[in-house]
Amino acid sequence: MNKNNKNLFIKTWGCQMNAYDSHRMADILRPLGYSTVDGPEDADMVVLNTCHIREKATDKLFSELGRLREHKEKKAAQGEKMILAVAGCVAQAEGDEILKRARYVDMVFGPQTYHELPEMVAKSIGAFGPARIVNTEFPVESKFDFLPDEQATQGPSAFLSIQEGCDKFCTFCVVPYTRGGEFSRPAQAILDEAKHLTDCGAKEITLLGQNVNAWHGAGVAGGTWNLAQLINAVSEIPEIKRIRYTTSHPRDMDDDLIAAHGEIEKLMPFLHLPVQSGSDMVLQKMNRKHGRDFYFEIIEKVRKTRPDIALSSDFIVGFPGESESDFDQTIDLIEKIKFSSAYSFMYSARPGTPAANMAPLIPDPVKTERLARLQDLINKQAIDFNRQFIDQTLPVLFDRKGRTSGQIHGRTPWNQAIHVCAPDDFCGTIKDVRVTEAFSVSLGGEIMDEAHATDRKRA
Ligand code: SAH
Ligand code: SF4
Ligand code: F3S
Repeated sequence: MNKNNKNLFIKTWGCQMNAYDSHRMADILRPLGYSTVDGPEDADMVVLNTCHIREKATDKLFSELGRLREHKEKKAAQGEKMILAVAGCVAQAEGDEILKRARYVDMVFGPQTYHELPEMVAKSIGAFGPARIVNTEFPVESKFDFLPDEQATQGPSAFLSIQEGCDKFCTFCVVPYTRGGEFSRPAQAILDEAKHLTDCGAKEITLLGQNVNAWHGAGVAGGTWNLAQLINAVSEIPEIKRIRYTTSHPRDMDDDLIAAHGEIEKLMPFLHLPVQSGSDMVLQKMNRKHGRDFYFEIIEKVRKTRPDIALSSDFIVGFPGESESDFDQTIDLIEKIKFSSAYSFMYSARPGTPAANMAPLIPDPVKTERLARLQDLINKQAIDFNRQFIDQTLPVLFDRKGRTSGQIHGRTPWNQAIHVCAPDDFCGTIKDVRVTEAFSVSLGGEIMDEAHATDRKRA
C-alpha cells in the first residue's frame, strides 16, 4: 500500500451537527492523504465523534475504546501506528479524564477545534516523538473560517451547519457547555457552501443548528438577516429543490419564518419543534422560557400558513418533580396537536447542569411507564398520519440505496421515509411514487410511470 494513502475511520454518535462535523473532519484530513473507510480494521486513524446529551455516553465511549485498543495493538505489532482520537461533546466535557483513563488514546479535541486537526495530527505523529493532545478550547476564530472548500459528496440530501452553540441554558441540557455560546455564520459563506454542495450533487439542503431559528447572520449586502431571509436566498439556487431546517426552539419561531412556510415553495412542509413537556410547571423548571399556551399559539399560526405541515417534537419524561398530572398535561398536548413523529427520552441527570441538583427525582419504573405511554400515543399518531397518504401519489427525492437489494430509500415532502423497488440510479432524482403501505416510521410505495402520475398528483 502506498504510505501516502491512509485510512480514516470516523464513528459518529449524537445529533446531525455531529454528522456534519464528521464530514468536515474527513474533508480537512483528505489533503493529508486520509480517505474514509467503513471499519476500524485497517484504519491508520480512528476518530470517535461523541455525544454527551444523555448518560451512558461515557460508558459507551470507554467500551468502544477498549475494542479499538486491540486494533491499535495489532497494528503496533506490525510496526504501524493507528492514531486514536476522541472528538465531540464527551471530549469537550471530559477531555483530561479520557487521556488519564485510556493511556492509548492519542488525542482528545472538542467540537470547536476541528480546523486545528492537521496541526494536531502532525504533533501526534511527532518528528520529536509523539505527543498526546487535549484540545478543548473555544477559539476566538470560528472553525468555519478554516475549513477547506473541497468537500466529499454528502449525496442528494446534504447537511449544512449555519449556527453553532446555544445561549438558552435549559436546566437539563449540556449543549451550552459542550458547544459554547451561540454563533451564526454569515449568509455569504452559507450560500457559497450550499452552491458547493449542489456541485457535488445535493438536491436537498438541511440547514442545521442547535437553535437553528435563532440564526441571525451578516446579510449578503450588509445588515443582519433572519432565518426566513436566508432560506429565501438559498431557495434561489436553482439546483436546490428542497430546503429543511432543524432544530428549532419555539421562542425563536418568528412571524417571518412562519410566513416563509406559506411562501417559499422549496421549504418542505415539515417542522421539528421540540416542546419537551406539556406542563407549565415543568417547562418553567426546565427554563424553556415559554408555557404550553405559547406552544399552541405557534402551532396554530404555522398551521394557518401551511395547513398540511407535518409536526414533530422532542419530549423528556420524568424531569425532577414531574407529577402524574404534569405528565397528563404532556399527553393532553400531544393529543391536541397530533404529531407525525417525535423523539422521547427519559430524563437523565447531566453533571454540571442546574437540573442535576433538583428534587424530587422520579423513580426509574415511573419514568419507564410514562415513556411507554407517551411512545404508544406518538406511534398511533404517526401511523394515522402516514395512513392518510395511502393511494396518493407523492414526489419523492431518492437519496440512497435501501437495506434490501433492488430497493431504494427516499423522502416525501413531509419527511416520511419511503422504500421503493427501483434502480440505484434513481438516487438524486425526484419521482412520483404511489404510496401502497404505511407504518409508524416509514412508507412503502411504487414508482408511477409518468403518464399515469400527472392527474393523480397531490397539489
Ligand atoms: N436544541 C434542541 C435540542 C437539543 S438536544 C432544542 O432546544 O430543542 C436533543 C434532545 O435531547 C432535546 O430536545 C431533549 O429532548 C433531549 N435531551 C437533552 N438533554 C436531556 C437530558 N438531560 N435528559 C433527557 N433528554 C435530554
Ligand atoms: Fe439544550 Fe435548551 Fe439549548 Fe436546546 S435550547 S440546545 S435543549 S439548552
Ligand atoms: Fe450530542 Fe453534542 Fe449534539 S451532546 S446532541 S453531539 S451537540
